[in-house]
Amino acid sequence: MEVQTSAGRYAEQDVQALAVAVFKDEKVDEGILKELDEAAGGVVKSVIESGELKGKEGETVYVHLGSNTGLRASRLLLIGVGERDGYQPAQVSQMAGAVARFLRGKNVKTIGLVTRADGDAERTAAAATEGATMGLFEPDKYRTVEKEGRTIERLVIISEGADEEALKRGAEKGRIIGESVNFTRDLANEPGAYMTPTNMAERAREIAEEFGLSVDVLDEARMEQEGMGALLSVSRGSEEDAKLIILKYTPRDASAQSEENLLAFVGKGITFDSGGISLKPGENMELMKYDMSGGATVLGAMRAIAQLKPSIPVLGVVPASENLPSGKATKPGDVVTAMSGKTIEIINTDAEGRLVLSDAICYAKKLGAKRILDMATLTGAVSIALGDVNTAILGTDQEFINEVIAAGKEVGEKFWQLPLDKEYTRQIKSDIADIKNVGGRKAGTITAAAFLKEFADGVSWAHLDIAGTAWGDEAKPYRAKGPTGIAVRTLLQIVERAASSQSGDRKAETPAATAG
Ligand code: BES
Ligand code: ZN
Ligand code: ZN
Repeated sequence: MEVQTSAGRYAEQDVQALAVAVFKDEKVDEGILKELDEAAGGVVKSVIESGELKGKEGETVYVHLGSNTGLRASRLLLIGVGERDGYQPAQVSQMAGAVARFLRGKNVKTIGLVTRADGDAERTAAAATEGATMGLFEPDKYRTVEKEGRTIERLVIISEGADEEALKRGAEKGRIIGESVNFTRDLANEPGAYMTPTNMAERAREIAEEFGLSVDVLDEARMEQEGMGALLSVSRGSEEDAKLIILKYTPRDASAQSEENLLAFVGKGITFDSGGISLKPGENMELMKYDMSGGATVLGAMRAIAQLKPSIPVLGVVPASENLPSGKATKPGDVVTAMSGKTIEIINTDAEGRLVLSDAICYAKKLGAKRILDMATLTGAVSIALGDVNTAILGTDQEFINEVIAAGKEVGEKFWQLPLDKEYTRQIKSDIADIKNVGGRKAGTITAAAFLKEFADGVSWAHLDIAGTAWGDEAKPYRAKGPTGIAVRTLLQIVERAASSQSGDRKAETPAATAG
C-alpha cells in the first residue's frame, strides 16, 4: 500500500472511495457533514436521520454514489468513531485499520481518508498510516487457496489546510511503526519449525544490517562461559542451539548522560514451548509457537527505533530457545545455577520463560542497562486475571510503571498493574536451593514476576505478561485474528517520551547556563 497525504480538498481526491469519520450523535446541519451531504446528494443526511448510523465506534455505512455528485470518489464509507472528546491518535489508528479492512473487503483499491482529528496533523497522519498498515496484515502466509489476495493500492490521508510537510513526516513515521508491528506479528506467526532460535537470530542480524544496529549473538559456548545455567537448562532437551540475541541502537550524538540511564527491552524468545518433561496437554499446543512473542516485540521495536532515530540509546535482549523433552532434558527436581549465582530448583520444566529471562536480565545489566522492561508470554494465569484486554504490568519502580501505562494509553494499548508485595516471594522459596521456579496455584502471574524480581536488583525494572494479549482468538474490525504485535507501539512511545524529556531537560539547562 502506498500512502499519500493531502492538505487539499477531499471532494477533489482521485480515489475510488472516500471514508469519513462520524462522531457520536453528530448532526448533519453544519460543518463537514453538511458540506459532504450536499456534495453527495443528500445521502449523509438520510443515513444519519434514519438512525442507521449513530456514530458509535466501529459502526459503518457504505454507499455507492454514482458519478453525478460533487465528489470525485464514487463510493462513500461513513465510519463511527465515538465521542468527539475521546477521539485521540489511538482512536484514529483503529478507525484507519477498520476502514482499510472494510474497503479491501469491497475490492476498493484507492481510498481517501478524512480523519477529522483536530489535534496535531503529524500525529494524526502517523496514527492513520500505522492503523491502516496494521489493519491489512493477514496471518495466511502459508495458504495457497482462498488467500486474501486483495490489497489497497493507495491510501490518501486528507487533512484540509494542514501543513504538507508535517503530514508527510507523520505518514513516514506511521509506515515505519505499522510495518514494524507487522514484522513482529509475522515472526510470532511462524511455525516453530521455521522460527528456531537460530532463525530468530538470523532475522535480528538482517534488521541490524538493513537499518543500522549493532548486533551480537551468544551461542551456547559463550553462555556457558557467562555461567548462564538457567537459560541453558531450558535448551538442554532440544536439538536446536539456544541463542542470546543482543541488538543495540546508539544515536549519532550519544551523550554520556543517556548511556548512564541506558534503557533495555528484554523479550522471552521460546520458539516452541512443549512444556519439556512437564509436557503440556495436546489441546492448543500448536499455539505455543507464539511463545517467542516477547522476543518478537523487542525485535520489531528495535527495527523501528533504528529508523526513527531517537536521541537516546536502546538495548534489546532476546533469550531464544526451544523447550522440548528428550533424554537430555532438564528434569523436575534438578537444581541449576543462574548467571547471578542464585541456585534454582526446577519444579516444573514448563515454567521456562522465567528461567531464560533471569539470565537475559543479568546480561542486560552486565551491558550497562539501568532501566529494564521485559515482556513475555509468561503465564496462563494472566488470561484468567485480565483476559485479552489488558496486559499485566508489575515491577519495582512505580514511576517507570506509570510511564509505561501512560505511553500505552497514548497508543491504545492497555496495561493493568498487579501487586508485587514481598510477601509473594515466600511462595518461591525452595527447601534445597535459593528459589524454585514455580510458586504454587495461587497468584501465578505475580509469583512469576516475583521470580524475575530476584534478578532485577540494582536497576529500575518492570515486566509485562503478554500471554493473554499477544494472540487474538478472533478478528476485530481493525485487525485480523492471530498475532497482535502487542506492546511494540508502547515501547516506541516510551522511547519517544524518554528522548523528548531528555532533550527538554537539555533545552531547559542551556538558557540557565548562558544567563548565569
Ligand atoms: N508459555 C507458557 C505460558 C502461556 C500459556 C502462554 C498460555 C500463552 C498461553 C509458560 O511457559 C507456561 O507454561 N507457564 C506455566 C507456568 C506454570 C507451570 C507455573 C503456566 O502458566 O501454566
Ligand atoms: Zn512453559
Ligand atoms: Zn513458555
